[in-house]
Amino acid sequence: MSKLVGKVAIVTGASKGIGAAIAKALAAAGAAVVVNFTSSSMDADQVVGQIKEQGGQAMSVQGNVSIVADVRRLFETAKLVFGSVDILVNNAGVFEFEPLEAVTEAQFHRQFDINVLGPILTIQEAAKHFGAVGGSIINISSIASSNPQPNSLIYAATKGAVDTITVSLSRELGRRNIRVNAIAPGVIDTEGLRRVGIMGSELEKQIVERTPLGRFGQPEDIARVAVFLASDEASWLTGERIAASGGWQ
Ligand SMILES: NC(=O)c1ccc[n+]([C@@H]2O[C@H](COP(=O)([O-])OP(=O)(O)OC[C@H]3O[C@@H](n4cnc5c(N)ncnc54)[C@H](OP(=O)(O)O)[C@@H]3O)[C@@H](O)[C@H]2O)c1
Repeated sequence: MSKLVGKVAIVTGASKGIGAAIAKALAAAGAAVVVNFTSSSMDADQVVGQIKEQGGQAMSVQGNVSIVADVRRLFETAKLVFGSVDILVNNAGVFEFEPLEAVTEAQFHRQFDINVLGPILTIQEAAKHFGAVGGSIINISSIASSNPQPNSLIYAATKGAVDTITVSLSRELGRRNIRVNAIAPGVIDTEGLRRVGIMGSELEKQIVERTPLGRFGQPEDIARVAVFLASDEASWLTGERIAASGGWQ
């Protein structure tokens, strides 16, 4: 479990849910981890505390991924405190589900700013800060990009953009040994998911029925894939999108 010793990872949106699980798993594999959040400082500090209790290295840094000054400060702080940046996990994301007639400009811009502009800004910074040996970028997409359900128009489109950015930048950055891959989770039990009211609803049962492995995903199911993609075990993988969804695609 020490395959990331000596590496420094930034995980965006790591105060809860999938991001928190990824931060803890990267730290358990030996990386020093920057736990980014936008508003939940107590949750982020709790994640940092849990990592340190296990003997790992971590710090929390506030920053909105859709604001360029925040993103620059995030990377500068990581480099100042930990000395380098080698791994970027673009996990921060928001999801709202509404029918076509209820879509507003504000919802469009909020989701596209955080889910699409955010990863573009962070990858811009990562490309500046990664060292001569390159690095690994992992974008958290969604199976919604390839199998969009009704009422997911804007969210699914943001994740379609994430998939395209992953392939495009894998080609642009490959010569610098910067690998860019995506994980497309299925439905994962997180605070964000609970907020949209799926748990306890008829939809929850339907999702489990449609999932070949017969259960909801847990954040740790995604974290294990992220550790793999971050590590040298995935050194010949770039431009890939791994669906981690219990078989529902
Ligand atoms: N849950 C699922 O079923 C599922 C399925 C497929 C893909 N995904 C994707 O997985 C990612 C995480 O989802 P989740 O369910 O774990 O979400 P979540 O429980 O709602 O957590 C979202 C995280 O993102 C952070 N965040 C939100 N806006 C941000 C911003 N502008 N800048 C920086 N951080 C920001 C939040 O920070 P604060 O706590 O400070 O607000 C929080 O740490 C998202 O990209 C989502 O689209 C989720």
